[in-house]
Amino acid sequence: MASEKKPLIPAHKRAELEALLGRILKDVKPTEAEMGLATRYANEVMLRLKKVVPGNVEILSVGSVARGTQLRGSSDIDIFLLFPKGTAEDKMEKKGLALAKKIVKKGKRESYQIKYAEHPYLMLTFEDVGLKADIVPAFKIKDASERITAVDRTQLHNVFVNDNLSRGQKDDVILLKAFLKAHGIYGAGAKIEGFSGYLCELLIHHYGSFIDALIGMSMLKPPVTILPSSRKEYRYPSKESIEFMKKFDKKLVVIDPTDSNRNVAAVVSDESLARFAITSRILLKNPSSGVFYGPSYSDVYSERKLSRIRKELDLNIYVLHFRTPDIAEDIIWQQIRRLGSSLSGILRKSGFHPVLVLENVGNGEAILSFFISRSYASYLVVEGPSVFMEESAERFMQAHSKSLGMLFNSDRITFLEEPRFNGPREVIQASLLDKHLLPSYIKKEHMKLHINTMPESAAKLLYDAFMRKTSL
Ligand code: UTP
Ligand code: MN
Repeated sequence: MASEKKPLIPAHKRAELEALLGRILKDVKPTEAEMGLATRYANEVMLRLKKVVPGNVEILSVGSVARGTQLRGSSDIDIFLLFPKGTAEDKMEKKGLALAKKIVKKGKRESYQIKYAEHPYLMLTFEDVGLKADIVPAFKIKDASERITAVDRTQLHNVFVNDNLSRGQKDDVILLKAFLKAHGIYGAGAKIEGFSGYLCELLIHHYGSFIDALIGMSMLKPPVTILPSSRKEYRYPSKESIEFMKKFDKKLVVIDPTDSNRNVAAVVSDESLARFAITSRILLKNPSSGVFYGPSYSDVYSERKLSRIRKELDLNIYVLHFRTPDIAEDIIWQQIRRLGSSLSGILRKSGFHPVLVLENVGNGEAILSFFISRSYASYLVVEGPSVFMEESAERFMQAHSKSLGMLFNSDRITFLEEPRFNGPREVIQASLLDKHLLPSYIKKEHMKLHINTMPESAAKLLYDAFMRKTSL
């Protein structure tokens, strides 16, 4: 509860951290020039839109640029076209895109792409200055109950952040984003499954400052529900905490102050949450820019580096490598993770336990990889049902009559059998023949299985995934 007294860090530690953060902020906050440029281009886009949109469509600048919470070098502009609610959804979508297209000056080193989220939007690129502007059609609403599309909430987020965060707190949002980014957990996409920009804003509001957010995270005892609107926290096993747990089924719930039915932390994976807690503890204990920015590594000679890791750990590395189809990267990430977990389940059942399963996507290619011990048992442990489930026990015993021996694991029948496959390679190859196993965008014909040696492009993806997985 908010009323509980927080054990504070010693004053000299806080002062030391504040000095460090002051120096880091100078590096991660956009320069005056960058902010000026972003504002100028945001205004330019809005001005152009004003000339083409009908009077009942509102033009609004949102996102981190409008709020002053963007990281240096990521001043991407978000402009919303807000249609009145009576408009049909497909009409709003089509009209919004058509209006957005009208303002692109193609000859002048400007180009656009149509991007797909829940709804399509237009991404305009100003090649000369390296700035991008997303133009997103949505509905004008006053509160979340009127919401029709997911992005309709964005206009409300803008109001909440601007009404509730001071300039100093916005700088702390920038620090938080930089810290999370350095540790690979900034962003709500399928690759990262981490903390979105808006979630960072809410955490700074809730805890008060970056340092207090670190303290809060370092002491976090999930499951926890945070209510930014009242700056309250509910911990297990309070009645409220249990209710929120039932409703959202997540270790961390952060209720959107503009929509009590939404958990802003819904996509944060348990691993990302754990990483935030542990890196917070390390930074509080040892405030240094080395800890803030985390480890860095180079991906040159990735294959050679992997080969050293493989020998040290006495493992074989199995890598499925393929070109990715031209679809949203989030979908590829979801599919590749699904395939990874089905294949590792099959490998485990076949007696080959993956020590590490790694995925990565980039530069039009993807990898799915299993690190598996080089030596395996010459028998397979097959666990059956309890003896007291008479019929299934009978069926199980008939099906496994050629087994090398029978044991009991408590009252469950367990057989030792001859392995059906000689090694992981056969398991993987046989599994890929199963059409039900492969997700829609991953085609067997496009996939190559490499063992231990692989093209450098695959090795780079794999080494990057390995470093992200094994470092903080
Ligand atoms: P952005 O993804 O651009 O995030 O979405 P951001 O807050 O501007 O952060 P950075 O600095 O670019 O990384 C713009 C706004 O759209 C809303 C949020 O209000 C966000 O601030 N949004 C975005 C959502 O409501 N849901 C989403 O899934 C994504
Ligand atoms: Mn943005």
